[in-house]
Amino acid sequence: MKNTVTSLQKQKIEGDKITMLTCYDYSMAKLMDEVGINMLLIGDSLGQVILGYEDTLSVTMDDIIHHTRAVSRGASNAFVLADLPFMSYQTSIYDSVLNAGRLMKEGRANGVKLEGGVKICPQIQAIVDASIPVCAHIGLTPQSVNAFGGFKVQGKTEQAARQLIEDAKAVEAAGAFMVVLEGVPAKLAEIVSQEINIPTIGIGASASCDGQVLVYQDMLAIFSDFKPKFVKQFANVGEIMKDAFQDYITEVKEGSFPGKEHTFTISDEVIDKLYG
Ligand code: KIV
Repeated sequence: MKNTVTSLQKQKIEGDKITMLTCYDYSMAKLMDEVGINMLLIGDSLGQVILGYEDTLSVTMDDIIHHTRAVSRGASNAFVLADLPFMSYQTSIYDSVLNAGRLMKEGRANGVKLEGGVKICPQIQAIVDASIPVCAHIGLTPQSVNAFGGFKVQGKTEQAARQLIEDAKAVEAAGAFMVVLEGVPAKLAEIVSQEINIPTIGIGASASCDGQVLVYQDMLAIFSDFKPKFVKQFANVGEIMKDAFQDYITEVKEGSFPGKEHTFTISDEVIDKLYG
């Protein structure tokens, strides 16, 4: 069954946790879809884990569209959510609708995600008015890394905690169907999840959220530049891959790969004719 804004909302009501992983290509989308992941996020984290930038700021609309197209082709049932990259929606309401539309039309996404709370509500409202589902992302919003002075947990003071609750309520009122809470203290994430009616998806925000998201390279230990505290490595796929690459190098060098079973035959007659 295809995951939709209504099925995801139903999951919150029924207390059935929503699962989301980042995804950037077709093969991975198929694997995740086959095991029943509810949502695939083409996050601008691709700037770091795919493109090797130190943050998400240089990611372009074309980058996200390129990867969203690939993921959409591999996702039969998962809801495909695509990130609006830095400066694709902050600049104006017009830009936000135009670029959200491109993610839907060219990327074949089912919805878009943008960072910000109260301040970005005019954009959320306009995108929703264009019949595009919007997921807001509040708390530690990576596109604001320079304004925050680093990747820091948000909402720790009374004022910041109040602001976070206000942001969550504002994005819900503006029409967002979901909100990602990143880098938020556990108790505060619990309060927000209770105070709003749309699902909350946590990343570094505790199990009290209505669902969870992780960057798949983090959960599989494929990305090794840094490991945030909130990441659990579910498998050490990075090591398994390195072992396989090492075996490949060894077998190519010693001539044991490719073996007979990996090669194609030609009749001796044809070969004889070449030299006859
Ligand atoms: O870009 C991304 O992958 C994200 C998740 C970390 C929520 O926004």
